[in-house]
Amino acid sequence: ERQEARPYNRQRLLVVANRLPVSAVRRGEDSWSLEISAGGLVSALLGVKEFEARWIGWAGVNVPDEVGQKALSKALAEKRCIPVFLDEEIVHQYYNGYCNNILWPLFHYLGLPQEDRLATTRSFQSQFAAYKKANQMFADVVNEHYEEGDVVWCHDYHLMFLPKCLKEYNSKMKVGWFLHTPFPSSEIHRTLPSRSELLRSVLAADLVGFHTYDYARHFVSACTRILGLEGTPEGVEDQGRLTRVAAFPIGIDSERFIRALEVPDVIQHMKELKERFAGRKVMLGVDRLDMIKGIPQKILAFEKFLEENASWRDKVVLLQIAVPTRTDVPEFSFTHGNITKHLLKKLTSQVHEIVGRINGRFGTLTAVPIHHLDRSLDFYALCALYAVTDVALVTSLRDGMNLVSYEFVACQEAKKGVLILSEFAGAAQSLGAGAILVNPWNITEVAASIGQALNMTAEEREKRHRHNFHHVKTHTAQEWAETFVSELNDTVIEAQLRISK
Ligand code: G6P
Repeated sequence: ERQEARPYNRQRLLVVANRLPVSAVRRGEDSWSLEISAGGLVSALLGVKEFEARWIGWAGVNVPDEVGQKALSKALAEKRCIPVFLDEEIVHQYYNGYCNNILWPLFHYLGLPQEDRLATTRSFQSQFAAYKKANQMFADVVNEHYEEGDVVWCHDYHLMFLPKCLKEYNSKMKVGWFLHTPFPSSEIHRTLPSRSELLRSVLAADLVGFHTYDYARHFVSACTRILGLEGTPEGVEDQGRLTRVAAFPIGIDSERFIRALEVPDVIQHMKELKERFAGRKVMLGVDRLDMIKGIPQKILAFEKFLEENASWRDKVVLLQIAVPTRTDVPEFSFTHGNITKHLLKKLTSQVHEIVGRINGRFGTLTAVPIHHLDRSLDFYALCALYAVTDVALVTSLRDGMNLVSYEFVACQEAKKGVLILSEFAGAAQSLGAGAILVNPWNITEVAASIGQALNMTAEEREKRHRHNFHHVKTHTAQEWAETFVSELNDTVIEAQLRISK
């Protein structure tokens, strides 16, 4: 019915991302149940009327048999999704290995894995080969479904090899690539053994986008220093061909959050939370459980604050939601001597240990200063929590953008709480004027900022909130998607004009 309501001649947009926005559960030999996950990208693209989006990606499950693959493809087609089937070995080498063990930590300034040199080099090569093979498999599916005039938008660090594969199929295809993580300083990117090949394949795209100008600048200087290409204010030039490089900061579907606060269940939940924490200021952290999020540092800063401010000890509570992810990534591990430790497990037990110590130290028989949850919350519970929070702590060590900060601001029209935000999150460049910016590595500074936030006058909170709320409301995910796609269309037209001159 959606199709009828929209203009007949909309442009088709093929969105290619590692993960489809669905979770698929097999119910029988040829039956699947699907649930659409309403992440930022999905709601962004649903809201855009100018084009008709189709998704191409991995469904997150291994489907070795043809009957199952056919049934899943059919079920996904109804949701405008097209699957790329990856077998277990490819997933292991490409997703667990090259994407999550090599590129993810490197792009977040955690460096390359530093185990036994020879072993790393060997697995590095096979993982890179699997990465290229997986990207080629994505390209095959795109090519199969591509129609002339379509726009192809590739997403994230999983698919850096895709623009090149696509242009080899069809040099006229309009190809854009967007990175959702930081792009690190060229000095960091230089350490990657496949540095040149990856840069060259990204440059095959017509438009390359990042969340911030800094990331775009890092990318251009990597192309200059590593490939010897000329960087211009427009992008990167190679033998007369220009790849446009620009910043497109993402946003959220803010109305979805604002509307949620009027749902009776959410109002009821907010009431319960307020009663539960009556007489105490609520501080909140919501993070995927990942090394980059700086959860231990944040909790240590909270401990320091309690240590130095005895009068606040029974008047403040920190709620930390740590959502488990990538728990199947065995490569999130390191080898020390001959013991291999799982980094995420280590991180979890480290966080538990610190929380236990602080609660033992500052808790009473009836109340503890930290509530820590190792799980996700549903959308409504999360909105209620955002709305009753006095101070949000977003203290990632590095983060592409960090939309938790945006979601918090969207839910704070009534309360006008304070956002403490890492200067190493992309969001610092858009919400910096309203937030208290901190260096998350400096525990003393973060502890002081907690005091500043809790003691802030209502006028100052109002002023800071106004700034951020305006930004979050006007810079939406929908606007982000529209801007990127129209810039991609323009870039291709300009390039054609240049050639015909
Ligand atoms: C980050 C990445 C996304 C990814 C998400 C969840 O935000 O930029 O591309 O989808 O994490 O990680 P996962 O590995 O579970 O897809």
